[in-house]
Amino acid sequence: MSEPIRYLHRGELHTVSDAATTRTILQHLREDRHCTGTKEGCAEGDCGACTVVIGELKGDTVALKAVNSCIQFLPALDGKALFTVEDLKQPDGSLHPVQQAMVECHGSQCGFCTPGFVMSLWGLYLAQEDGRQRPQRADIDDALSGNLCRCTGYRPIIDAAQRMFELPRVAFDRAALAASLQSIRRGEPLTYTCEGRAFHVPRTLEQLVQLRAGNPDATLLSGSTDVGLWVTKQMRELGDVIYLNEVAELQRIDEADGWLQIGAAVTLEDAYRAACRHYPQELSELRQRFASLPVRNAGTLIGNIANGSPIGDSAPWLIALGAEIVLHGKDGQRRLPLEAFYLDYQKKDLRPGEFLEAVRVPLPRPGLRLRTYKLSKRFDQDISAVCAAFALTLDGNTIRDARIAFGGMAATSRRAPKAEAALAGREWNEAALADALAALADDYAPLTDMRASAAYRMKAAQNLLRRFWLETRPDAPLPPAALNAFACTSTEGQP
Ligand code: FAD
Ligand code: FES
Ligand code: FES
Repeated sequence: MSEPIRYLHRGELHTVSDAATTRTILQHLREDRHCTGTKEGCAEGDCGACTVVIGELKGDTVALKAVNSCIQFLPALDGKALFTVEDLKQPDGSLHPVQQAMVECHGSQCGFCTPGFVMSLWGLYLAQEDGRQRPQRADIDDALSGNLCRCTGYRPIIDAAQRMFELPRVAFDRAALAASLQSIRRGEPLTYTCEGRAFHVPRTLEQLVQLRAGNPDATLLSGSTDVGLWVTKQMRELGDVIYLNEVAELQRIDEADGWLQIGAAVTLEDAYRAACRHYPQELSELRQRFASLPVRNAGTLIGNIANGSPIGDSAPWLIALGAEIVLHGKDGQRRLPLEAFYLDYQKKDLRPGEFLEAVRVPLPRPGLRLRTYKLSKRFDQDISAVCAAFALTLDGNTIRDARIAFGGMAATSRRAPKAEAALAGREWNEAALADALAALADDYAPLTDMRASAAYRMKAAQNLLRRFWLETRPDAPLPPAALNAFACTSTEGQP
């Protein structure tokens, strides 16, 4: 028996019973609700024109996050609150400080991108509510990393991001929203069906295991930042869907016995922030350069791992660190080193009825030197040409353990066994580096595609290994900032 989708918008409860299971929130807003302030530019999470803010209960607090409504499916909105650009004006009709600041700083010209910017800025405004100091420029850049504007040159919008905090503060009543969300909270799982398709929303691990066993062909859905594009860009039929992000046990981040365990429903933003607490120098830039904040607010780390793209950015550093995944199916749990999960291009060791429950990340160990480098044409919001990760464990100056992994160099992210063998047991010096550089050329036979040529990828991979040496050699480690002078953006094929 299908239950309607229920969500809050402008303080009212909205129920939907006749929308296709893969109708996006954007389509529903514009075509069903005629809320056309939210725009469509790309329908693939890239431009930010469709940015909305979603409020959801996280324990007894409320999380309010900017996301791309063009790649979020409407049934996933069940039990949540939706905020669009029309909702920011004040009860007396005056503008919200975010809007007022955009007007005062001339942050809009044609105005097409403006609603998306306003919602991303509102997400930043809300994030500062806990009284933390004013956002740094890096926070503003991060908040706006998913919004493109072709008119203003961004300067006025950055000004507005500072100006909005100088205007009289408008508080957001989280307690009232939490109470409203509690009132529509479901205890039991939701099954929403339309046109013969089912969208299942289990709430517990046990319900998920049963559902998965009973629907082995259903599409598993987390943050839909890959799956969303299968529908909006590839026009694929998903069939039945099992949505994982409401399963309480999958939303956990635990730390024990030298491992950080990240559940399958933990967003990329939360997962990377947790990992960066242990590897600040090594992972902070990768977090910042992974997609945009709205994509990281919706997408999950496990979704990145499970998607298994050969140029996914998370697998290289996780493999280099020796991460393992926890798989769960009707026969219970099993653990696997992440590198063993990828069998070949888009072939994974995922048995019928299984799903990924968590990823386990080793915490820093003595003597560890970890670095990961993303090489892409744009600094922000770009797919890697090459993504490298190096993890040496030194005993004094001797390499006790060498783990090297690359994305973009083979059909899957995978290790470089010959280069590792050239290093293991050796002194970490130029001679060992030279041998590893030579061996690396035998580890991979990269492809040429629109992002980079095979020759460029191999040269870049060797240069990144040399950069790793410069940053971690025992005698004169250059601080990464000094090396960022040539930040990892590739210039191949550019004038
Ligand atoms: P979903 O789209 O929900 O699912 C992805 C795949 O994983 C599907 O096959 C799904 O069936 C499967 N899956 C999900 N959860 C499970 C589970 N628990 N068990 C088994 N299978 C599961 N990726 C990068 O690596 N780097 C980038 O810089 C980057 N930039 C992006 C920019 C944009 C604009 C967009 C739209 C995407 C970008 N991505 C990038 C890709 C995507 O955001 C990531 O791969 C993301 O981590 C996917 O997570 P998700 O939760 O959205 O997965
Ligand atoms: Fe471009 Fe959604 S329409 S990000
Ligand atoms: Fe025209 Fe930004 S104001 S796209």
